[in-house]
Amino acid sequence: MRKLLAFAEVETDGGRDILRAAEVTPDPLLRRLYLAHAIDELHHGVLFRQRGAALLRARARRVKTLFNGSPLPGGHGLDDLSIEGEPDHRLLAFLHVAEKAAAGRFAIYRDMVDDDPSTRAIFEEILRDEVFHMNYTYTQLARIAPRSYRRHVWWARASRVWKRYLRVATALAAVIGTLILTVMYFVLLPPFAWLARRAERREPPGWAPISPGPGDSPTSQY
Ligand SMILES: [Fe+2]
Ligand SMILES: [Fe+2]
Repeated sequence: MRKLLAFAEVETDGGRDILRAAEVTPDPLLRRLYLAHAIDELHHGVLFRQRGAALLRARARRVKTLFNGSPLPGGHGLDDLSIEGEPDHRLLAFLHVAEKAAAGRFAIYRDMVDDDPSTRAIFEEILRDEVFHMNYTYTQLARIAPRSYRRHVWWARASRVWKRYLRVATALAAVIGTLILTVMYFVLLPPFAWLARRAERREPPGWAPISPGPGDSPTSQY
């Protein structure tokens, strides 16, 4: 399960970022909550890594190379998180949206691995934490920005959609670029190849004598 290892990466990275948030926030209550949150995420990273490694080992023993190559985004989308210079309300709104998405996604994965109770238990445990993260970020956001918290959440959601759109658009642009170049290769090259072949047919084989011009000196080498 390479996906579990990818999840582990995202959780650990997210944990580190939130740890940084705990360092820079001026709010003591938020500092404590961020710290607990960061510890959760780092713990999730460990859980995913251990389970992924165990599954890989089991699979290697069975000598079965089943390709599982769909690099789904990690549960959180916490990879977009930036801490430096972000005020707490922006950070909380971002986290709330990300944790909500994570909770939804992990619930789907939990149901997908019904035949694997150990992995399911891990998703179950992590899902409980993500729901807690989702709720505490919302409560805290409402506490520090009682009048504008809804707008902050709305903004965070919009910027998440925008970032995703940019990512898709970039990938799409690359595909379209390749497509156009390929089409140009097949559409523009054949006429030139045909012209070249026709010119070659008109050319007599071997050496071609050059008719002497009127100005040529009979003794010149050139
Ligand atoms: Fe997590
Ligand atoms: Fe989380």
